[in-house]
Amino acid sequence: MAMHRRIYLLTAGMVFSMGAFAIAEAGSVWLDTLDVSLIQTGWGDSRANRSVDGNPLSIQGKEFERGVGTHADSLFMIQLDGEATELSALVGVDDEVSKDETKRGSVVFKVIGDKKELWSSEQMKGGQAAKECRVDIKGIKVLTLVVEQGDDNTYDHADWAMAKIDYAGKAPVALEIPRPKPYILTPKAGPRPRITGPKVFGVRPGNPFLFTVTATGERPMKFDVQGLPEGLTLDASSGQIRGTVRKAGEYKTTVIAENKLGKAQREFRISVGDKICLTPPMGWNSWNCWACAVDDDKVRASAKAMVDSGLINHGWTYINIDDCWMRKAGAQDPAIGEPVRDNDGYPISNARFPDMKKLTDYIHQLGLKAGVYISPGPTTCQGYIGSWKFERQDAQQFAEWGFDYLKYDWCGYSDVSGNEKMEDLQRPYILMRKMLDEVDRDIVYSLCQYGWGDVWTWGEAVGGNCWRTTGDITDSWSSMAGIGFAQADHAQYAKPGCWNDPDMLVVGKVGWGPKLHDSRLTPDEQYTHISLWCLLNSPLLIGCPIEQLDDFTYSLLTNDEVLDINQDPLGQQARRIYNESGKQVWVKRLEDGALAVGLFNTQSFSQAVTVGWKDIDVRGTQTVRDLWRQADEGRFESQYSVEVPAHGVKLIRVSK
Ligand code: GLA
Repeated sequence: MAMHRRIYLLTAGMVFSMGAFAIAEAGSVWLDTLDVSLIQTGWGDSRANRSVDGNPLSIQGKEFERGVGTHADSLFMIQLDGEATELSALVGVDDEVSKDETKRGSVVFKVIGDKKELWSSEQMKGGQAAKECRVDIKGIKVLTLVVEQGDDNTYDHADWAMAKIDYAGKAPVALEIPRPKPYILTPKAGPRPRITGPKVFGVRPGNPFLFTVTATGERPMKFDVQGLPEGLTLDASSGQIRGTVRKAGEYKTTVIAENKLGKAQREFRISVGDKICLTPPMGWNSWNCWACAVDDDKVRASAKAMVDSGLINHGWTYINIDDCWMRKAGAQDPAIGEPVRDNDGYPISNARFPDMKKLTDYIHQLGLKAGVYISPGPTTCQGYIGSWKFERQDAQQFAEWGFDYLKYDWCGYSDVSGNEKMEDLQRPYILMRKMLDEVDRDIVYSLCQYGWGDVWTWGEAVGGNCWRTTGDITDSWSSMAGIGFAQADHAQYAKPGCWNDPDMLVVGKVGWGPKLHDSRLTPDEQYTHISLWCLLNSPLLIGCPIEQLDDFTYSLLTNDEVLDINQDPLGQQARRIYNESGKQVWVKRLEDGALAVGLFNTQSFSQAVTVGWKDIDVRGTQTVRDLWRQADEGRFESQYSVEVPAHGVKLIRVSK
């Protein structure tokens, strides 16, 4: 509802050209009356007259009747066509976060007029009084109200309270934020064979073995593996190796892929011992797309598409079901009035998953592996049954069903954990480790407890193969970058068999329910996401339906030189060696002595980022290879400098 007042405008131009008074409309418009659904919001949804969490707008104890509640990074574009005069508002961090001292956001409000900064609040923190913003916007065509993150990047609930625009002429209108067009860097895989995927695979003696040798190139392709240990056989047309190896040891094999255009070969080490998961797991997980709308059909569709789309040829392996496959907690599922476990305490899947064994069989015959999820508590996050007091049955059942991966998600364990001291945090994970050790199947053990108690310092000791280091990710820059760039201190804990897990990928179509949308990350933000997750040795779990991959997302997930950084057998996690003015440099040492270097720009404008050879401990002229383009950039004497787009990255390989 705009506050209109009719006024008579007299301008010199009008007097001379028209020789008369002209009548134009003028007034003020409250920002909250514009279409706030068009605001790009870092987390949650921007709201009219409410905070981003839906509370009355409030800054340092003062409530405001009107305004817009949003969350950094936030962009609100308004068309003025040169007809507005003044913007006024009271800005600050909303009290819904600043009441709690541990949750104080820090943000910067900015007013941009036709790409020029007209006003900045400077950094504001939670608990600080509202600042007055009064800006002359005469002549401005497009006004952009920006909220950027301050020093930290969480709890940035930001209010443009009592915000209004005075205008003379046409009323301001909210604009859709233009989405940058995706651009593809990954070259198409060539027709000749090229072997992909991990160079090492771990298995326990006597346990079922399944590994699919993968390669790009024209089909039909014929595979061969020289030096396979006893007990294993290869299917030459699919590349699937199956069987069991009884004798522990390191087996060096040579993998060969051949088609009518040529032949490729590469060393592949099979490590038979007590360590599995020697490279970060790569696959798919149902949560970021389907959440509780997951069912057997959707899991099969992603598995089938993993093969049909050719993603499998780049080393993608796991098909993981997240929450919501079980029955609802209680002695009986309240929806169907039937028991949630059988007479012996084994879990029963719900009607959306009619036959778990058939499902994993389907996944396995495709050459893929299957993952499952449960909580150590009485309930999962979504109120389905957890393993509490049935840990043995669950481990046995998962093995019998044929699962290869277990995500063990704390959630309902809070109800029974006690004080959440260190021993309480570790207890359920130690218990399930024991149960998994009793089954004759290799099951990757993924701890999920959001990083509590600095899990990276003890995840290995309790027998985890990976451990979530953070809360849940969502498809916004502040979430993805907030999580990814906060991983610098955990590098020393990552190694083969033990991986920090900053959560799953948010590329392609996501939605956490039946309705999906394209990831809200810009193309450059998605390049940052994949590059950073590869440098971090993170498990790579795609969170979109594989059968709905678009060309851009496909290109992001099939760059073998980028994926090789994630799968490098040395397993060293990248370290951050530079972090100033939104420029970050991360370096990861690779098995062959080369370095993978990520040059990141976290600012919302492009800027040059430089890495000097002495900062990364290399001497003399170096070859720099652009990993996304898979092309050499040339030889560089003492440093490499490149213009990096806003929120973007340049991922390079530096070698002698
Ligand atoms: C937690 C986890 C998520 C997902 C959900 C399922 O929030 O962190 O990754 O597994 O539970 O309910």
